[in-house]
Amino acid sequence: MSDIRDEVRKKYAKAIRDAGASCCGGKGNCCDPITSGNYDPRELTELLDGMETASFGCGNPTALAGIREGEVVLDLGSGAGLDVFLAALKVGPSGQVYGLDMTDEMLLEAETNRQKAALENVTFLKGVMEAIPLPDESVDLIISNCVVNLSPNKDQVLREAFRVLRPGGRIALSDIVLLRPLPPAVKASVAAWTGCIAGALEAGEFRSKAEAAGFSSVDLSITKTYVFTAEESARLFPDLGPQERILADGAAASALVTATKERPET
Ligand SMILES: C[S@@+](CC[C@H](N)C(=O)[O-])C[C@H]1O[C@@H](n2cnc3c(N)ncnc32)[C@H](O)[C@@H]1O
Repeated sequence: MSDIRDEVRKKYAKAIRDAGASCCGGKGNCCDPITSGNYDPRELTELLDGMETASFGCGNPTALAGIREGEVVLDLGSGAGLDVFLAALKVGPSGQVYGLDMTDEMLLEAETNRQKAALENVTFLKGVMEAIPLPDESVDLIISNCVVNLSPNKDQVLREAFRVLRPGGRIALSDIVLLRPLPPAVKASVAAWTGCIAGALEAGEFRSKAEAAGFSSVDLSITKTYVFTAEESARLFPDLGPQERILADGAAASALVTATKERPET
């Protein structure tokens, strides 16, 4: 697992290159049970037309994060930028949204999309969420969509999130969580890790890691459960045998994790 970050980078560089080419007759991610159908079509105004097909999330954090006008928002692992743009429309011109990603191909696509949508209150940053390139206490809200599970060092990601949040700031992370432990072969599968399953935490683990990083009021709610067809499993876990794929089925769900960085008592 030592080269896992490189494997993740390669996977998502390819994913964005291939977005628009289809595996099931439509466009982009239409055939993927995790990434498709996360957005209400009414949210995807003309400005954001077509961007859902280059979305690799497992939820819709901006719909659930209670974003307010004028806030500074950071999206960890922003990909092609859809959640950044949805947040930018909510914070308005007096707010600011940063998208952080480590993959050049994703950053290029995101910046092209930003220019198309003519959103001036958006900045994409290159870097890793284990060392966020922003100052202490500079952000009101951190969102993320199916990215924390990809990190081999989630404690560090949560500590960094806590560091850059202002007192009173909050996180709203859509991510995959495990409903039961995965068999060792699935845990060890690189494809299952880069496919957002093998690195996922169990709900209780996510909660205790967030608390250990300093967060309060940690809440985790399941937003979507998955039962994969044999065909979907074969596509998601190409390096697993049929028996291991059956064991992986039903173990993963999408969740929204929210928490706050409390203001110190005065
Ligand atoms: C599953 S995709 C999700 C992209 C985006 N959030 C979305 O909803 O479409 C994961 C993204 O996270 C980025 N990523 C993975 N690990 C990262 C890390 N440690 N630091 C920064 N970005 C990372 C990848 O480059 C990729 O763009």
